[in-house]
Amino acid sequence: MLPPGPTLPSLLQTLSLISNPTRFLDNCAQRYGETFTLRVLGSHSPPVVFFSQPQSIQAIFTTLSDRFEFGKVTHVFRPLTGDQSLIMQEGLRHQHQRQLLMPALHREGLHRCGKLICEIAQATRWPIGNSIDVLDQMLEISLEIILQVVFGIQPGSRSQQLKILLHQLLTRINSPLYSVQFFLPPLQQDWGAWSPWGQFVRLRQQIDRLLYAEIAERRSHPPIELGSSDILSLLMTARDSEGQPLSDTELRDQLMTLLLLGHETTASGLTWVFYWLTQKPEILARLRQELNANGSTDPMMLAQQPYLTAVCKEALRVHPIALIAQPRRVKQSVELEGYQFVAGTVLIPCIYLAHRRSATYPQPTEFRPDRFLQEKLSPYEYFPFGGGNRSCIGMALALYEMKLILATLLQQYEFEANSSLQVLRYPARRGITFVPPIPFQLRVLKQHGGSGANFSVDKALLKP
Ligand code: HEM
Repeated sequence: MLPPGPTLPSLLQTLSLISNPTRFLDNCAQRYGETFTLRVLGSHSPPVVFFSQPQSIQAIFTTLSDRFEFGKVTHVFRPLTGDQSLIMQEGLRHQHQRQLLMPALHREGLHRCGKLICEIAQATRWPIGNSIDVLDQMLEISLEIILQVVFGIQPGSRSQQLKILLHQLLTRINSPLYSVQFFLPPLQQDWGAWSPWGQFVRLRQQIDRLLYAEIAERRSHPPIELGSSDILSLLMTARDSEGQPLSDTELRDQLMTLLLLGHETTASGLTWVFYWLTQKPEILARLRQELNANGSTDPMMLAQQPYLTAVCKEALRVHPIALIAQPRRVKQSVELEGYQFVAGTVLIPCIYLAHRRSATYPQPTEFRPDRFLQEKLSPYEYFPFGGGNRSCIGMALALYEMKLILATLLQQYEFEANSSLQVLRYPARRGITFVPPIPFQLRVLKQHGGSGANFSVDKALLKP
């Protein structure tokens, strides 16, 4: 016997989950309780069971983890990230790659790039008296950070070209008509430069050419001599268990992976933070007060501010960027919550519902950063970055980035919500993330000081 769930035909369940996932998940949890079964992979496919109770999440992430295998959900990204990407690996190879990437993305490694992140945020030029689209602005800042902090590409012609090409690529894969090709391999046919897949292939070739040129240049100037602290440089010095460095293809594939998973996620998280700060002026005022009292521009000091941290964490709680952690397929029968799940059943740790349990979070739909000041939540109650051995390796970078960008922009600008802004009920899907469903704009009122170069794209630099 399986946990209860809707009896609607599989197709209807699938459509409800695709069209308005948060509403559908809320309804299921209300009707069937914390653990429920959906039929969303077709009527003859295995059942999919959603979990949000902390004890069950803990069991899935830890004690039962060797009874599961990961589905092939990330494989739709293969044409973009390549075969060598971390997200394409399984088992031991996956663990080895994680160990190679971890030091570059870990806390100690990140301290060195804090100043650069702040400078990039300081270089924004928001027009005083006008409105800005928050998500667009956050995407621009976070792309610049990926280029400089992760790829280590200095502002200049190559950086400008890459920025334009990556922007084109990311915008296209977010459009439903274009992205459908990734899910349906028979559509992946290069019928020339005008065919949709042909466009993708040519865009990818242009990006690859620039990335390989950067890698080749960096190989001829070893990173230690340059004193670089960007993630590409650190990856170039990394050695696997046999003492071998990463090949050019491996480096390229990991860079594309970090771009795909690290760009829009962080920008969406920040967009939610701004959304809540405009809804809750008292929280914005308290945050400004903390930043002013601290008065520091030192990135490390800034990132340790408790209320700043709490605000970012609470935004990722109420509106997690990913609604679920990676689905696990049972390979060896397991018992959980009194149910016996046979091989083939798919188990899903549901981040969204776990973050909205009223037993863990009283008044869960309320934005209350104080929750994170008062008590320490377990990684099975709060897990916006997933959990277990496939959890997000960019977690430390993402939180560091969010805090530094937010603090820098608050120190620099005063703003208010556009009067048309409504209270949002359901987030919208955008690529792999969930964002506010209407273009969310702010009116910029004032700028305090500010310095640095302007990082907006100069299209004249793009070669034909
Ligand atoms: C607010 C920002 C972010 C959020 C909310 C987020 C969330 C997630 C989640 C939920 C997963 C799946 C974890 C699981 O299934 O247990 C994931 C995986 C991953 N994330 Fe993030 N992420 C963010 C930023 C980043 C950044 C900045 C990077 C890198 C630059 C990154 C790189 C990755 C990678 C490589 C994986 C796959 C890990 C693996 O398969 O072993 N993420 N992320």
